[in-house]
Amino acid sequence: MKVRSPVVFKTKNAPDIEKRGIYMEDTIKLKQILSGYPEEKRFSLAIMQDVQREFNYISREALELISEHLSIPLSKLYSMATFYRALSLEPKGKYIIKVCDGTACHIRSSLVILSELEKLLAISPGEMTKDGLFSLETVNCVGACALAPVMIINGEYHGKMSSKDIAGILEQYKGGESHG
Ligand code: FES
Repeated sequence: MKVRSPVVFKTKNAPDIEKRGIYMEDTIKLKQILSGYPEEKRFSLAIMQDVQREFNYISREALELISEHLSIPLSKLYSMATFYRALSLEPKGKYIIKVCDGTACHIRSSLVILSELEKLLAISPGEMTKDGLFSLETVNCVGACALAPVMIINGEYHGKMSSKDIAGILEQYKGGESHG
């Protein structure tokens, strides 16, 4: 895994940020996102969506920078981030695995799929693996009931899943990592 050096990034809230450290490359990306928007409150959701897309979650540091850029209270940004399901304040893995537990998938043993994933990844739904590669979630019907049980990894559908397929699928994603 790439090692990054924490650097100090000066903002009006600098003392707080300095204490925790923020990564230069993350800061550059955040500033690039912010620079694409005028300093107007109405862009707060669009900015948070961009940050979510880039980092898979919205960090405390990102919220502070957005708050400063738009002159909008942190508390307002927090409530927006918790209101919209597509936004997350918790770090998520590079690959987000969603196991459908809608009725059709449930009948076709989606819980067996889920428990195999829990076993192989050693995490529960809502958690991320230690290497930051995978997050696990359960979702309601994703509209592909004919393929039940369904698992989705970063938007890619895996249908008619059987627990014996899972290790191989995870390996494909891990393999993609080692080959860049
Ligand atoms: S219940 Fe899983 S796709 Fe519909």
